[in-house]
Amino acid sequence: MATDIPEDEDRRGLARHRDAARHRDHYSAVGILFHWTMAALILFQLWWGWRASRLPVGWEKLAAYELHFQLGMAVLLIALARIAYRIAIPRPEVTDDVQGWQRLASEAVFWLFYLLMIGLPVSGWLMMAATGGRHLPDLFGILPWPHLAMFDDMSPARRQAWEAAAEWTHFLMIWTMGLLTLGHAGFALLHHFVFKDPVLTRMIPALPEPD
Ligand code: HEM
Repeated sequence: MATDIPEDEDRRGLARHRDAARHRDHYSAVGILFHWTMAALILFQLWWGWRASRLPVGWEKLAAYELHFQLGMAVLLIALARIAYRIAIPRPEVTDDVQGWQRLASEAVFWLFYLLMIGLPVSGWLMMAATGGRHLPDLFGILPWPHLAMFDDMSPARRQAWEAAAEWTHFLMIWTMGLLTLGHAGFALLHHFVFKDPVLTRMIPALPEPD
């Protein structure tokens, strides 16, 4: 049976929800789960990708890249869900401790992070598809990953050009992600231990507030 909630009441409910999210003193449980799952996955991927690149050519290297690919595609799916959630539920308003250019810079860094969360896996996917031709592994043996038909009838030279471009993009994004993460984590710790404001406790509410 259809639920008879008038559309404007529905909208008012969502507006109230967004307003409550804005005025909370910490991120929502879902926001926190997204953040730390993604942070763990990305840190693992940075290390695992580097490790795979240093293995000698052989089965172990292939298996390492397959895991890297599957986790990368998981990052892509989680990032899309996270962006949708972030658009629906805004982050809590920053306190007076972070205002002006710092506020703008942190917002810009967050959106750059989201861009990298999409760009890194997509460039990896293109790289795998251009090199490996038709075969892409199913995700964790259960989710068939879409085949990119654009490479089917491509000449080897064009495929190589695509692979090289995707590899460069991936490489640049890895460094950007690595440096941005260092800076981001460094600022979070600086806020907590030096400025003693509640920036870090917004993302780890179990942490005692700095005194
Ligand atoms: C690869 C690792 C990481 C990525 C990709 C990442 C990404 C992000 C993103 C996108 C946000 C914004 C959330 C939003 O409002 O939309 C955020 C917020 C935050 N992150 Fe990270 N993060 C990472 C690691 C870390 C680490 C290691 C720390 C702590 C040492 C940290 C501390 C925080 C804090 C405190 C916030 C909330 C800032 C605020 O709005 O007040 N993050 N992070």
